Amino acid sequence: MLLAETIETLDPQPGQTLLDCTAGLGGHSAAIGGHLGPTGRVVLVDLDPGNLELAEARVSGIDEAPEVVAIHGSFAQAPRELAERGILADLVIADLGFASTQVDDPQRGFSFRGDGPLDMRMDPTGPITCEELVNTLGEDDLTKIIFEFGEERFARRVARKLVEARQAGPIQTTSQLAAVVRRAVPRAPNQRIDSATRTFQALRIAVNDELGALEGLLGSIEREAARQGDDRTWLGPIARIAIIAFHSLEDRPVKRRFKRLTDAGLTERLTRSPITAGDAECAENRRARSAKLRAIRLTR
Ligand SMILES: C[S@@+](CC[C@H](N)C(=O)[O-])C[C@H]1O[C@@H](n2cnc3c(N)ncnc32)[C@H](O)[C@@H]1O
Repeated sequence: MLLAETIETLDPQPGQTLLDCTAGLGGHSAAIGGHLGPTGRVVLVDLDPGNLELAEARVSGIDEAPEVVAIHGSFAQAPRELAERGILADLVIADLGFASTQVDDPQRGFSFRGDGPLDMRMDPTGPITCEELVNTLGEDDLTKIIFEFGEERFARRVARKLVEARQAGPIQTTSQLAAVVRRAVPRAPNQRIDSATRTFQALRIAVNDELGALEGLLGSIEREAARQGDDRTWLGPIARIAIIAFHSLEDRPVKRRFKRLTDAGLTERLTRSPITAGDAECAENRRARSAKLRAIRLTR
């Protein structure tokens, strides 16, 4: 996503180290890795071990490949992992959200298109599945998640219907969940998106603690930017950081934190306003329409 724009913004140079917080299928890392060359290094991080493996193979397979370090886990922990390994990143990319390998596989339970178990974990070893959330949380907690993470006006109705439905037996599949949600959310005439979309997004964000992880990463960037050069533990001098968000719940904290850092003189903005995808990319990939790239550079 926004590949050319990300490369232009990060301006990778031979010998630099890239931290890819969301390795996915390795698209960004392979393209940026080509600029880093054999003296450079790419640190790949992903919650999804299958994607991490794909990304590692892809980046290692490019001509003049950089050194590749693969770390399974959340990017919230990446700063600590880098510090423990004594690695300073010159470039950081986080391309937030889910990958096609996850949403296109019904067995992963991310989508209401096609039936599958109600899982939704990016990390199959993660602590909680969507099935557990939906069948154990009380009505108030479900309402809060669906309202806050899905911005669903009918959150209370959806939560009530879920609690009612599970009295007849646990909700175990994506199609069962979608059917309950569709019964709760009135469909407007000419409505193009499925009524279940917002609730699925909300539950996915909760299962994977997506906003908590983003907050963790942004907090680490802020603390590191405030450190003097020699005290830095994971970011190199004048490191460049790019984050691609897909909805306002992700973009808002990025925008706010980048502004605070820039107002404090710790960073410079590399994007005045967010960069969005061009017509060609949007035509090819619907998801690109919502992508927003923001980037900063540490001032020292
Ligand atoms: C949009 S895809 C990245 C695509 C990648 N940039 C590419 O070019 O192929 C997002 C990836 O981030 C991973 N992910 C999401 N949240 C994460 C987190 N907190 N920590 C680590 N990886 C995460 C997902 O598992 C998914 O593989």
